[in-house]
Parts: sequence; structure tokens; C-alpha cells
Amino acid sequence: MKTERLSLSQGFSESSIKRSAEILNNDGIVAIPTETVYGLAASAYSQSAVEKIFLAKGRPQDNPLIVHISRLDMLEDITSDFSDIAKRCADAFWPGPFTMVLKRGERIPKSVSAGLDTVAVRMPSDNIARQVIEASGLPLAAPSANISGAPSPTSAAHVLNDLDGKIDAVIMGNDCGVGVESTVVSLCTNPPRLLRPGGVTVEQLKEVIPNLVIDPAVLAQPKSDEKVASPGMKYKHYAPKTETVLVSGDSEAYISFINTKSDSLAICFDDEYESIKTQKIAYGDKNNEETFAKNLFSVLRKADDYNVKTVYIHSPSKQGVGLAVYNRLIRAASFKEIIL
Ligand code: TXA
Ligand code: MG
Repeated sequence: MKTERLSLSQGFSESSIKRSAEILNNDGIVAIPTETVYGLAASAYSQSAVEKIFLAKGRPQDNPLIVHISRLDMLEDITSDFSDIAKRCADAFWPGPFTMVLKRGERIPKSVSAGLDTVAVRMPSDNIARQVIEASGLPLAAPSANISGAPSPTSAAHVLNDLDGKIDAVIMGNDCGVGVESTVVSLCTNPPRLLRPGGVTVEQLKEVIPNLVIDPAVLAQPKSDEKVASPGMKYKHYAPKTETVLVSGDSEAYISFINTKSDSLAICFDDEYESIKTQKIAYGDKNNEETFAKNLFSVLRKADDYNVKTVYIHSPSKQGVGLAVYNRLIRAASFKEIIL
């Protein structure tokens, strides 16, 4: 199939939004920008459209999708149970990088939720994402628009790299501002449970959900026989093809360590770059989590261009959105972590 490039440059934006709405209403699949990462969207009401997403991404059938809305009244068809705590979360975090898991309403086909009786919902803040939802008049099921297992896409170029020829269209929007996916919280458990850290931080969540618990899979590898609350967390994910190892320790220790390693690539912080003798990429300011969150996935995608034996990534602070970055990196490294 030929993948249409839908431009947002001056004069094209309106027709591109209209075209994507048309494709979505005909059960097609379109990659759209959001503030977190690009999503691969389909009508959340259409089983056959949703199946196309799983096929294009090579996504395991047991990994459920997030449904994206632009207005609260769209929830009526999506969930039968919009509780008080869900309302408070919506007030505090929507629109934005926050996803809540609620009881699934009957209009949402089982395949969206991989057979679960729950459904994950998010209201993005990105203007283009919202315009596409509005123009289509549909809630949109959308996972990240990458081949399953690869780093998530934060630019239209990343999407085309993975999915050109496999999807109907891509909106050629700007690079994503947040750079890591949304925070996922289950409100179907008591107490509510953080399933995936993301753009909304634990510190912010606790102001609205004081009794929030953090699922063990957020920071450690689930045992192979363990039932995980968020199926996405059990898969190897975000990984470069090259062997990748996470390295924890202060800057001085990291620099000494990496300078003894030949045939390697350092993914380091900006202020370490000059002192490193191997091949290297900097991924942001170590004291400013937003900077390295934004760069994370594009840096992981570049790692394979260096043709080295091992990539050693300097582990970030777990403060703020740093926790989400750490959560992605331990998976990118298949849980291989050296503590200096
Ligand atoms: O920021 C985001 O969330 C992006 C953009 C496109 O909105 N989307 C995204 O989707 O990251 P995806 O499919 O790559 O990740 C969805 C995560 C997976 O870990 C999945 O297991 C979890 O959400 N999830 C979805 N529905 C769930 C449910 N009903 N119960 C528990 N976990 C669920
Ligand atoms: Mg994903």
C-alpha cells in the first residue's frame, strides 16, 4: 500500500485533517502527532480497523490499546463507570499525557482492550491530534506508531522509517514535545495503581490520588510466570538492535567506566560529552528531566548507526519525568544494569 504523506505546511493543514478523518471513517489507519509520541490511529468502534493496527505494528494480540478522545462527553460510549476519582483525574490532568484505565463500555470492541473488560482512555493536548478526533467524530484507538518492540516515534520521519507502506497515511507534524508516552493509571483497582510512568509525574499524581500504589513492573523485570497488570510492560521494548546496557553512577564514575570500553557507544549527558573518548551521543541536561525525555527515543533510534558491539547508557535521575525515562531504558537494556 502507498502511505499518503499529509502535510501541515501553510495552506495544507485543513485538507490534511479532513483527509485523515475520511480515511479513519473508512476503517483506515493514520499516524498522528500527539504531545507524547506519534500514535497509529483507527476508529475505536471498528474491530476491522483495530485489527489493521495490530497487523501493521506486529503487535502481540494480548497488548491492549489506548482510546483517545477530545471531549468528556465521548466517554459515554467508552465506559459505563466514570467514577469520582476518574473525574478528579480528568480535571487535573486532561488534556495531557495521562491515561486512565476504566471499565470498558459495550460499544468498544473487545479487540481494542485485548479481551480485557477494562479500557484505557486519554485526552491528548496536542492541537493536531484533537483536530483529527473532532473532524472524524470518532474516539481513536492509538498505540505508539512504531514497529512493536522498537523505540517509540517522536517524529514523522521515525514513523515512516518503521511503517512506510504498511499504513494508509501519516500526518507530517512537528516533533513531539514530551517525548515519552503518557502515564497509565488503573482506576479499576483499589487502591489505584500506576502501571506505566510517563509525562505526568508521580509527584503530580499523588496530589490527586494520595493512595496511589506503584506497580512493581514499573521499576523491575516481571517474572516470566507473573500476571502483569499492564501487558505492555512485560515485553522487551524500545530496544536498539545493538546490545544495550544501562550504567548507574555519578558522572565521574561513568566517564572513567566508559573510557575503558572500546567498540562501544556512550549515551551520556551533555556535560559529560567532552570528557568521553569513545563514540558518543549526548541526550540532554542531567538536571533537567524534560530535556532528556524529549530526546530519548530519537537517540535510541540513532544507536544502531554506530556499528559498535555495546551501547552504554548513563542512567538518569528517577525524579519527575526521569522515572518514565528510566522505565523505558531498563527495558531497552533488557534489564541489564551495571551499578558503579
Ligand atoms: O502517550 C501515549 O500513551 C501514546 C500516544 C499515542 O497516546 N500511546 C501509547 O500507546 O503509548 P501504547 O499502545 O504504545 O501503550 C499503551 C500502554 C501499554 O503498556 C498497554 O499495555 C497499556 O497502555 N494498556 C492499554 N490498555 C490497557 C488496559 N485496559 N489495562 C491495562 N493496561 C492497558
Ligand atoms: Mg508503544
